[in-house]
Amino acid sequence: MLIHSAAQLLTLKGGPQRGHALGTLGIIENGAVVVRDEKIVAVGDTEDLRNSYPNEPTIDASGSVVMPGFVDPHTHLVWAGDRADEFDKKMAGKPYLEILAEGGGIISTVMATRTASLESLTAQTRQRTQRMFEYGTTTAEAKTGYGLQLDTELRLLQTLIDLDREGPLELAITFLGAHAIPPEYKDNPQGYTDEITKRMLPELKDWWGTNAPHMDLPFVDVFCEHNAFTHKQSRQILTQACSLGFPIKIHADEFKNLGGASLAAELGAASADHLVSTSEADIATLAKSETVAVSLPCTPFGLAEKDYTPAHKFIKANAYFALASDCNPGTSWNESMQFVIALACRMLKLTSAQAIAASTINSAYAIRREDHIGSIEEGKQADILVMDIPDYRQIGYRYGTNLVKQVMKRGKLL
Ligand code: NIG
Ligand code: FE
Repeated sequence: MLIHSAAQLLTLKGGPQRGHALGTLGIIENGAVVVRDEKIVAVGDTEDLRNSYPNEPTIDASGSVVMPGFVDPHTHLVWAGDRADEFDKKMAGKPYLEILAEGGGIISTVMATRTASLESLTAQTRQRTQRMFEYGTTTAEAKTGYGLQLDTELRLLQTLIDLDREGPLELAITFLGAHAIPPEYKDNPQGYTDEITKRMLPELKDWWGTNAPHMDLPFVDVFCEHNAFTHKQSRQILTQACSLGFPIKIHADEFKNLGGASLAAELGAASADHLVSTSEADIATLAKSETVAVSLPCTPFGLAEKDYTPAHKFIKANAYFALASDCNPGTSWNESMQFVIALACRMLKLTSAQAIAASTINSAYAIRREDHIGSIEEGKQADILVMDIPDYRQIGYRYGTNLVKQVMKRGKLL
């Protein structure tokens, strides 16, 4: 298959982009790409590739931007029900952490999720994976965290394993048993922390080996936050996860600065996510590491809050910077990375080019899949978007409508 005559082919070649390198799109005008089976075999100028591959079936991309599929590196995709009943209260000014402390928020979704069957969870989550795909996300990270007890958490993992196998959206799975303190441990958060480290993580490792032997171990994540897990408890969980061989991530500084970003750097986390109230010292520490700073601008937008990640401080400090949707029922029910980019341009003051790099090659690095997705380069998986726009800057500039014309996943046009 030869995709040819792209007004702009954004290759994003050259690997993850650190600090001020962010926004290097590697544009080829009148560009073309050749795909065989699941992979990209050639990238270049349309006339050159037409001559080298004269008998290839073709897709005419004239007037279009061709680019890598979006990679969304932070979602809470698997849950049951919704929280429409809380929305008006939140907009009237009731704080998110207060609703959580009263047993609402995440806990109300936990109650709905615990009673949902595997079939029901799969059907509800599939609606979201399909919508993401239609909006150009070809790979997404997806967390558990609405079970908060081992059997339900395993059911959520099974849902994600099944949906990844079914496709077309590819999933990078994360165990977030440490998303909140469940009602059974309301007065004993340390007891739940011990339950995660002593029982859940070792059992998860055995379960994964039996139920998903074809997949790498999932990430382990912690919500390091006031009214969730303290810095010390987060360290306990993540250290145990590392010693069992799990790769790790952390929710850090969404509301309060507990030092989660430095903890992520110290423990070698793939990413530290949210980063709204991160201190200068934590930014400096994170920026010296290989941990990707993942910003989720839909979350303050969804909560109508005024503070966003200070993106330029991370970029200036030379961090790897990426964007994600945080798709979840409480703070950010949004499946579109195009909207994330539009917000990032306005609220984080990124250029369209920076926001696109942060949503492709850098977000692939945030889930440690930069070796096979996130750019259009020879040898990489053919995850490619044909966008219904002649200039990449329309992504970001325009919002609220879907600019995707065609999505190719692993070489199949869908
Ligand atoms: O990333 N911060 C914790 N988790 C989610 C919200 C989950 C929920 O409210 O259901 C987040 O914002
Ligand atoms: Fe989150």
